[in-house]
Amino acid sequence: MNHTKIVLVGASMRIKAFVYALLKDYADTHELCAVMDVDDGKMRGFNETLKIDLPRYTDFEKMCDEIRPDLVLISTVDYFHRDYILKSLDRKISCISEKPLCVNIEQCRDILAAQKRNPEVFAATSHNARYHVAARAVKRLLDEDAIGKVNSVHYAEMLDLEHGASYFRRWNRVKKLSGGLQIHKSSHHFDKLNWWLNSRVASLTASGGLKVYGSNASPFHGENCSSCPHTSRCRFAVDYKKDTCIDFSIFTKYRAENSYIPDKCVFSPEIDIEDFLSVGLNYENGVCVNYTLAAHCNYEGEDIIFEGERGRIEMKRRIYREEKALRKDSVKVYHFKNSEPENIEFASETGGHGGADARLFEDLFGNKKSGRLATLQDGVQAVLIGIAVNEALKTGSKINVQSLL
Ligand SMILES: NC(=O)c1ccc[n+]([C@@H]2O[C@H](COP(=O)([O-])OP(=O)(O)OC[C@H]3O[C@@H](n4cnc5c(N)ncnc54)[C@H](O)[C@@H]3O)[C@@H](O)[C@H]2O)c1
Repeated sequence: MNHTKIVLVGASMRIKAFVYALLKDYADTHELCAVMDVDDGKMRGFNETLKIDLPRYTDFEKMCDEIRPDLVLISTVDYFHRDYILKSLDRKISCISEKPLCVNIEQCRDILAAQKRNPEVFAATSHNARYHVAARAVKRLLDEDAIGKVNSVHYAEMLDLEHGASYFRRWNRVKKLSGGLQIHKSSHHFDKLNWWLNSRVASLTASGGLKVYGSNASPFHGENCSSCPHTSRCRFAVDYKKDTCIDFSIFTKYRAENSYIPDKCVFSPEIDIEDFLSVGLNYENGVCVNYTLAAHCNYEGEDIIFEGERGRIEMKRRIYREEKALRKDSVKVYHFKNSEPENIEFASETGGHGGADARLFEDLFGNKKSGRLATLQDGVQAVLIGIAVNEALKTGSKINVQSLL
């Protein structure tokens, strides 16, 4: 049997989960053939950590000419996803891009045009949040009409200090590269909303700002925590040599002078993204959504409430770091005139992102397809909302979302 030849673009922290799954569960059908990145030292650290020895390329064209891959997995800095999606599609190579699919409107247009030029080439956006067991339970309830027509949704996203601050230490803090959290992070949530509600956003208004991180939030700042003289008085100081949430050695072991490391100062003047957002969304099917994101919260989680004509669905997700990242997720349905809600039972799933990754990988690499996989159009629709949020923040006006395309 011919194996699907896979190449990686981006020796990223994220793609490690794909590599583990491919080696463990899909090695009979898939072969990892090469990795491409602009940082050769990072690729060396990546190979070593994963105990693999993929050929390393810094030139995508050369890699494709020599390897002739069947599938490209794209997991680089968000701003560059578009370039590799276009190159893959125009070479007739299937590709899967991490979220967010891209970060600005030109890139959305380019991706849609490239797919139109190459309709026969498989391409997908790896929106894994759709695959979480609680998100799937909500989708089932909505599709089964459990609360009748949905009138409104309240969606509150809470990033705790550890997770929230991490975005302000890495490349994600530069809007040109990530689009801001409204694209980089909220694309997960906007994609889920689009999928749950089976509709697209017509218009939105937004407000937001930078309060806790950035240069105005502190009288001092440094470059990186590892070289900063202020760590003893900084509540955000991290030591990634000790902290286990990031494999710091991938970045540092073969590091070239001046290459990027992810412990940048959260008070840097370079930061130009928001740390809180409040968005009012009007869907084409009439549903109104009130969405908030805060990147400096007491605990990590989501509160999502659907108000329907016959009742209400409440989905809550919680992650408690102090209890070794204990997850407490629930979905409840309230019916009018019943004071007690119905608890929707589901067995919690394990693995990356609360079990969502394993389900996504089965859809991408396995035989059992769930029909849940996000297309490039879905990826564009999720990003488009974030682009409209950026436009609303700039202009203070209500934005007609679909007309941006
Ligand atoms: N779906 C999820 O749950 C999830 C979780 C984390 C990250 N992500 C996504 O995965 C992607 C990678 O994120 P990460 O935090 O793992 O990043 P990372 O910083 O670990 O890796 C990014 C890599 O891209 C490389 N790179 C930079 N510019 C490049 C270019 N022009 N061409 C090729 N490579 C280039 C960097 O050298 C680096 O090795 C992002 O798009 C992020 O949004 C998704």
